Amino acid sequence: AIERTLSIIKPDATRRNLTGKINAKFEEAGLRIVAQKRIKLSPEQAGKFYEVHKERPFYGELVEFMASEPVVVQVLEGENAIAKNREVMGATNPAQADEGTIRKEFALSVGENSVHGSDAPETAKEEIAFFFSGLELVG
Ligand code: CMP
Repeated sequence: AIERTLSIIKPDATRRNLTGKINAKFEEAGLRIVAQKRIKLSPEQAGKFYEVHKERPFYGELVEFMASEPVVVQVLEGENAIAKNREVMGATNPAQADEGTIRKEFALSVGENSVHGSDAPETAKEEIAFFFSGLELVG
């Protein structure tokens, strides 16, 4: 089925001018960028977005990192977009990511891992609504 997923290009990647190279990976995989904006998250916004990880030991570090510099938030659309995006990103830890994936090529560490992608249809819906209004989504 045609799905939509929320993607974030993280501060380690925007800082190194990798937005275009990462977007090329998505487009080459058949994912269409149907909405996109570059924003700087406040620590409060980053904390709210990652609320599910609140009890994890890395939560503070994660929130600080995500609010440190601009991010690019985007909606990717395509056949099985959620799973396909996760394939293109590669494993969370770049040391375990397959060749050719975004995290293998660009990520610096498990924390500074260049991209985020929704993990399931429910979370995709919530995460898209967190950043975009219906008017901003142009299929
Ligand atoms: P992401 O897909 O954005 O979802 C949660 C993030 O937490 C994850 O990618 C990682 O960047 C980060 N994360 C997961 N495990 C660790 C860890 N052990 N140390 C620091 N950050 C982590």
